[in-house]
Amino acid sequence: MERVVSGIRPTGNLHLGNYFGAVRNFVRMQHEYDCFFFIADYHSLTTHPTPENLRRSVRQALSEYLACGIDPDKCTIYAQSDLPETAELYLLLNMNAYVGELERCTSFKEKIRKHPDNVNAGLLTYPTLMAADILIHKAVKVPVGKDQEQHLEMSRTFANRFNRLYNCTTFPEPHAFNFGSGLVKVPGLDGSGKMGKSEGEGNAIFLADSPEVIRKKVMRAVTDSGPVNPGQEMPEPVANLFSLMRLVSTSDTVEFFESKYQDCSIRYGDLKKQLAEDMVAFIAPINEEIHRIASDDALISKVMDQGAEKAHASANKTISEVRNVIGFRTK
Ligand code: TRP
Repeated sequence: MERVVSGIRPTGNLHLGNYFGAVRNFVRMQHEYDCFFFIADYHSLTTHPTPENLRRSVRQALSEYLACGIDPDKCTIYAQSDLPETAELYLLLNMNAYVGELERCTSFKEKIRKHPDNVNAGLLTYPTLMAADILIHKAVKVPVGKDQEQHLEMSRTFANRFNRLYNCTTFPEPHAFNFGSGLVKVPGLDGSGKMGKSEGEGNAIFLADSPEVIRKKVMRAVTDSGPVNPGQEMPEPVANLFSLMRLVSTSDTVEFFESKYQDCSIRYGDLKKQLAEDMVAFIAPINEEIHRIASDDALISKVMDQGAEKAHASANKTISEVRNVIGFRTK
């Protein structure tokens, strides 16, 4: 079965945009491929989190992914730091990664621009660590967004360079896996663009949000003063609310409000109330699962242990091969 690797940032809570995008696809992929999903906690050290924050965010990320349907018996889900083989491969790949190419990386340039006071070597070598994450399992498919295309290109460069240097075929070429038709656009609540964590407070509905918070955010969503001519085109903020409604409400509900819009009798307050309730109902079971899992220490440890063990089995094979190819003693 083809191997898939993807890294999950432990920084944040999942919102509906993540859910209908990457997460739902991960859940689907675990049935079709040999999937390795890991929480990228080595990577997150570039921003120097406190141990408490790191622990809490890794645990929260794991709980949220499990609550969404990632099944530890169907795939391998683990903490990156539980697989130090990744760090060994990272060191080895760094010997053939050139400072020039790392400095030219768009994400690195962006980071120096935003955080000129923290330009550490971990940031510079972020693409080598990412390559190690992928190559340690010899993955060929990497489900990531457009923003990761350049990192993937670099992973291919490092893989091919290693193979050439040692005249071997150790690493296959990893390629970005595009979800294609599986991706739906999930707009935010601020009237423009997509749902995103960095778009400002109130734009995103998180899976961990309480019903009260969801209601408050939806009621504050941007609209306009309402349609005046029957059949008039919807402005973007209103169209966005309908898009969200299509994700969480029944088609009858959507049609009801659409016809109200068409004949200009719509009251946005009613639409928002309905949308909020349907979102609350949609999120409730996931939200409950998040809380159940996050408060179950034994379950969290069990899943982490199981993931680490499966990841080790895969990584050990690669590392032995790599050490042998390089001329080191093999373990
Ligand atoms: N760089 C990815 C992101 O920011 C996370 C990541 C780290 C990753 N290592 C990876 C993704 C390996 C896929 C494969 O989203």
